[in-house]
Amino acid sequence: MQIIVCKDYEEMSIRAAELAAEGIRENPEALVSFPGGDTPLGMVHAFADMVNAGDVNISRARYVSLDEWVGLSGTDEGSCGIFNRAELLDRLQKPFKEVHIINGAAADIEDERKALDEYIAKYGPLEVSVLGIGMNGHLGFNEDGVSFELDAHIIPLSETTKKVMSKYFGEKFHPEYGISQGIRQIMAAKRVILIANGAHKADILAKACRGEVTNRVPASILQRHPNCFVVADEAAAAQL
Ligand code: GLP
Repeated sequence: MQIIVCKDYEEMSIRAAELAAEGIRENPEALVSFPGGDTPLGMVHAFADMVNAGDVNISRARYVSLDEWVGLSGTDEGSCGIFNRAELLDRLQKPFKEVHIINGAAADIEDERKALDEYIAKYGPLEVSVLGIGMNGHLGFNEDGVSFELDAHIIPLSETTKKVMSKYFGEKFHPEYGISQGIRQIMAAKRVILIANGAHKADILAKACRGEVTNRVPASILQRHPNCFVVADEAAAAQL
């Protein structure tokens, strides 16, 4: 793990976007995945600015979403899909060659899961996987206790995730399951970039980077990834 401590959120965002762009420059036909949530907002904006300025060419690269709340389509408020579209894809003046956004409201969620696996099998492995970290150490919706051997899967949300999720959609929606790329697909990525900001992430980030590798803290598996960058602001890195 290469740990990069940035002075603040803005620096973290720019540094992570640069690392993602570097991966695409190495392989212009890259398959790329970014997370949803609060952490990546600045990063995806910085990345879109770089694309629009011509600093990185994504015209031959593909984008696949990381995860989604089961029950929410990619256009529902609070969904990861709407985050992908509004904050990243719609800002790009020069788009990706193709995008695959998970539909958590698909009539047959098992078909949706298979489609995600098939997409990654066809165009992958991921060249660049940018990830956030949940308060329980989850990556995407690889919740605590998840098998490290899984590809895309549908998983019950942990109690921690259920407590945290109201920040995305208040009391309007109470998802029970997530659909997510699996740890096996994440670990197969050529370059992984884990981003974290804020004092509330300091404890779990230290467990992930310095603690035992265990599925109780899914992000700890990244200690075994050969090309993983951890980009954190000073507050999140305080216990590293
Ligand atoms: C969410 C998502 C993850 C995200 C994580 C952290 O529930 N499933 O993909 O990385 O939790 O979210 P945030 O950045 O809002 O703290």
